[in-house]
Amino acid sequence: MFEHLREQPEDPILALMDRYRSDPRPGKIDLGVGVYRNSQGVTPVMLAVKSAERQLVEAQDSKSYTALTGDPDFVRQMALLVLSDSVEQERVAGAATVGGTGAVRQGLELIRLARPDAVVHIPDPTWPNHRAILGAMDMEVQTYRYFDAEANGVDMTGMLEDLGQVAEGDVVLLHGCCHNPTGADPSEAQWKDIVKVLKARGATVLVDLAYLGFGDGIEADAFATRLLAQQLPEVVIAVSCSKNFGLYRDRAGVVLVAGPASQARVVQGNLATLNRLAYSFPADHGAKVVEMILSNTALRAEWEEELSEMRSRINDLRESLAEALRVETGSDRYGFLAAHRGMFSRMGATPEQIASLREDHGIYMVGDGRMNLAGLSREDIPRLAKAIALVCG
Ligand code: LMR
Repeated sequence: MFEHLREQPEDPILALMDRYRSDPRPGKIDLGVGVYRNSQGVTPVMLAVKSAERQLVEAQDSKSYTALTGDPDFVRQMALLVLSDSVEQERVAGAATVGGTGAVRQGLELIRLARPDAVVHIPDPTWPNHRAILGAMDMEVQTYRYFDAEANGVDMTGMLEDLGQVAEGDVVLLHGCCHNPTGADPSEAQWKDIVKVLKARGATVLVDLAYLGFGDGIEADAFATRLLAQQLPEVVIAVSCSKNFGLYRDRAGVVLVAGPASQARVVQGNLATLNRLAYSFPADHGAKVVEMILSNTALRAEWEEELSEMRSRINDLRESLAEALRVETGSDRYGFLAAHRGMFSRMGATPEQIASLREDHGIYMVGDGRMNLAGLSREDIPRLAKAIALVCG
């Protein structure tokens, strides 16, 4: 049977990760996959995570199954972290998933189950796996304008125009904060305009929230998600704990659904069934660690402090690179790097320029010019700025 299989297209981010690993050049710079690195170039296990893990090893007396939707305390803590008091808890259903990707997938599975012919509107551009998952699920996809490449900011006019065409019952996928790949987010006032349009159109929203706390802080980064959940009758939220808890390989994530309270029980049951069909029980270790951190005052304070250090480091790196490029190019054309938020910004370079940066200078960024600034080391900034100025002008 396997002769019927076709080669699969490679994921542009993960393929780049492999190419980087197999490049023997010593001074290579990895700006590819979205992973945070500290000043030593290491993706550390957070101290709060280490403490929680130590306590867990001591205290855990069983590895028996949790529930199909995972540890209910984890789901509740995540709902509180993300939504705070923007919606009543009775309106919220939720399930632990296999990381943020699992949350996106299970959220879409739920939507497809409820409305098999739903059209899903995704931003142009978006994380490439959104389109790949939707393609694999055979769901109809449309794009809406999101990024103004000239201004290096959100194309609000285009976005509002396109969202204004969405049909009732369609799904609109939004990045809750730290847009991947552009780093450009709407302002709070612009989010209010977006919500107004979506409300008028009767769209269901799927929020991808993979970088909570990496932009301007937990509260600021949750603003859009909370506003959407408060203002719209139905919102699905896919949350990742990979970045903000540094739990990448432990695959901790949650899908939350804020809908009418009268439907929460049925939604919860459907999420349980979807987990059963995909993998039965979601992994618990990372989720338990997150739950312990969020529910313990000392651990939580330590985690928030570490998260804030990571955020400051990324924002400092943004400033420094923007400044180095200002000096190298004698212009402010890269000033947007300092204004963007989260791990990524998009450079506005041609595929040839991206290839030259990689081949001639050992600088790896995704083919669309996405750079992971959270992976950059301070010492590499002068060399990176010189290379960008040389290749891209
Ligand atoms: C990224 O966009 O680099 C991360 O979200 C990692 C991934 O799975 O693609």
